[in-house]
Amino acid sequence: MEPLSFLPSPRINRTAERVAAFPRLRYMGSKYRMIPALLRVFESLPFDTALDAFSGSGVVAYTLKVLGKQVTANDFLHFAHTVAHATIENAGVRLESDDVDEILADNSDGRDFIQRTFAGLYFPDADHDFLDSAWSRLDHMAPYKRSLALAALCLAAARKQPRGVFTVTDLRYDDGRRAMRTPLRDLFGLAAGEYNRVVFDNGRANRALCADVFALDPSDYDLVYFDPPYAPPKDDNDYIKRYHFLEGLSVYWRGQTIMEDTATKKIVKRYTPFAYKHTIRAALGELFTRFQKSIIVLSYSSNSVPDGRELRAMLESVKPNVEVHAVPHLYSFGTHAAAVRRQAEEYIFVAR
Ligand SMILES: C[S@@+](CC[C@H](N)C(=O)[O-])C[C@H]1O[C@@H](n2cnc3c(N)ncnc32)[C@H](O)[C@@H]1O
Repeated sequence: MEPLSFLPSPRINRTAERVAAFPRLRYMGSKYRMIPALLRVFESLPFDTALDAFSGSGVVAYTLKVLGKQVTANDFLHFAHTVAHATIENAGVRLESDDVDEILADNSDGRDFIQRTFAGLYFPDADHDFLDSAWSRLDHMAPYKRSLALAALCLAAARKQPRGVFTVTDLRYDDGRRAMRTPLRDLFGLAAGEYNRVVFDNGRANRALCADVFALDPSDYDLVYFDPPYAPPKDDNDYIKRYHFLEGLSVYWRGQTIMEDTATKKIVKRYTPFAYKHTIRAALGELFTRFQKSIIVLSYSSNSVPDGRELRAMLESVKPNVEVHAVPHLYSFGTHAAAVRRQAEEYIFVAR
């Protein structure tokens, strides 16, 4: 295993600082803390076009954009796609103060789906009202403005919710953060400013896609970055269970099925073979074979299935040269005690 050297390089520090401005969504498995290590890896490789196939919070795709690459960000969840559409594909559109004022104005068509469906659950009535009225306004906005507004609404809702996850519907887990008592409309205004500040043009034709990874055309990427939702030995890694409210909010629950018998009013989960111990090996094998023409960079945590040795062998069966870098990583997810328990070694595999 090749230890990753962390000699400070001014260029990497500058890039990491710029990426640090990317709005931080508390997202399971997000790689905010891995950015300096990933930057070292990316900077050592020859590539111009890149795919972040499981983009999640969007922070790795954004790092690639800051590096000047032509980036395609993909995730099969709508809300993750919306963030990437607003920040990776979008090269210059911002929410002007008029747009923010319009979203904060009163309900333009009387819609009330959120108030009716979630009354008494996650937020006070005034916040649910605001989400309906914001949607009545942004529904008619041009695509990038709409995505910026939705990304900001999702970030605001995640910040107000205890631990950022929608598995509980009361304030039992009140962690004392001021955001939990701030009206959503104020949190939205702040989040809109944060997203506005990271919009830029890197001079490339970047794209955001919302597809299953196996539906993507594998040609045309010099490098692919994979950060799939690995099967943990215990627990689960169901994104919909945790983030169903954000997923629904990003599309106003259109086309989504709410499981009415659930206390949390969650939507039906999206199947992925990466979530299960009995299907993840075949899924990873198929992924590596499909993208074997590209340099493969793979993030992987040591407390997942399959283990690092097996993964290395799988990559070596499709690529001649495989390096593994180990980076100590404390998961940013969970309470403090749980986070310490989850201390794991994070691997970055590079196969070329
Ligand atoms: C570990 S997270 C990625 C985190 C991301 N790298 C970050 O830093 O925020 C895995 C992501 O894969 C997505 N995903 C899971 N199965 C997928 C599939 N079959 N196709 C596309 N995306 C998928 C999930 O929605 C989730 O956002």
